Amino acid sequence: MPKNLLFVFGTRPEAIKMCPLILTLRKRHDVRVRVCVTGQHRTLCDEVLELFDVHPDFDLNIMKKHQTLEDITESVLLGAGAAIDSTTPELVLVHGDTTTTLAAALAAFYRGVPVAHVEAGLRTYNVQSPYPEEFNRRAVSLVASMHFAPTARAAKNLVREGIDAERVFVTGNTVVDALSYTYRKNYSSPLLDMVGDRRLILVTAHRRESRGEPMLRIFETVKRLAREREDVFFVCPLHPAPEVQEAADLLRGEPRIHLAPPLGLLDFHNLLARSYLILSDSGGVQEEALSYGVPVLVTRERTERPEGIETGGLRLVGSDEARIYTEVCRLLDDRAEYERMKCPYNPFGDGHAAERIADIIGKVI
Ligand code: UD1
Ligand code: UDP
Repeated sequence: MPKNLLFVFGTRPEAIKMCPLILTLRKRHDVRVRVCVTGQHRTLCDEVLELFDVHPDFDLNIMKKHQTLEDITESVLLGAGAAIDSTTPELVLVHGDTTTTLAAALAAFYRGVPVAHVEAGLRTYNVQSPYPEEFNRRAVSLVASMHFAPTARAAKNLVREGIDAERVFVTGNTVVDALSYTYRKNYSSPLLDMVGDRRLILVTAHRRESRGEPMLRIFETVKRLAREREDVFFVCPLHPAPEVQEAADLLRGEPRIHLAPPLGLLDFHNLLARSYLILSDSGGVQEEALSYGVPVLVTRERTERPEGIETGGLRLVGSDEARIYTEVCRLLDDRAEYERMKCPYNPFGDGHAAERIADIIGKVI
């Protein structure tokens, strides 16, 4: 009899990083895969599912416009619990550090169902940053019985925290696998035409701890740079969170800034691959950019991805206007410095993480 697996996820990055694993596991005869989406993200997650042709078995459809962390936790805990009860899985798979992840892992734990945690072991060891993700992932580590760490360092964090080393597996990050589904060598798009000969700087911002003053400072710096530099063009796909939309008002009407709705994954990955530079507080973007050697100025105070800092491809710049301005200008004007930041390899994965995880699951359950 095939073993029952239940995936539970709900946001865009979870979908991007879980779909390659779902597609890989679906090729196996020893497991039966079911998918429960929580709908923490509605449009952002649906678009990814469509691209990978993954059709959920359950959709909790929980999203509200101004959803609070309690709203998400409560609805996912109850809804994922019901999905677990009706499918009696041998294993529940969750990803990363969102509130969907935490609540789904808890629902499985309350039922005594083993949890597999994909992208386990990332840490800043500061529970306020990223908030609430650092708390979420640490809490999930306490209840998980299989931990798929993307890097040796993430695995080491888990073992240092007392997790049995035999239950921790270094696999790479499935986000690198996702790139092989989306990258097009001969990609063209109206957005790329709009950029023309100018150097493309891709900007994303969405973290809860960036909202308010830090995000306004980041956007003010982007505006200043766009006004001063004729040789660059900024593309800013805006996260739909109302706080991000409001902060981005100050960028409207600038000729060298294109404010876009969230881009489909295929467009986003292909633009990212062709960017000169990226300014972002995103976790996934930090990992993806290194596959294409595109430098990222990380607009956060700390990162749980120090491997990228060590390879030189990521640089932490926080949200200080002068710091961001100086670092962007340096990378635009100092060719040697720019070349130094072009990372020659991706420390987060080699594109085969999903196969490794699927093989381990096949052996262990
Ligand atoms: C969530 C995760 C964060 C992850 C991010 C990825 C938590 C606490 N946060 O943050 O870890 O980095 O997703 O993007 O789990 N919205 C839409 N349509 C969508 C998605 C969102 O309109 O498809 C709007 C809604 O108004 C929603 C708001 O965005 O209330 C915020 O969404 P939420 O999931 O609460 O927070 P994120 O900032 O997206
Ligand atoms: N992404 C996308 N369209 C966009 C912006 C981002 O498809 O307009 C993808 C990006 O490739 C990455 C993921 O969304 O894989 C990152 O999501 P986000 O920054 O929202 O969350 P995080 O990774 O910080 O949790």
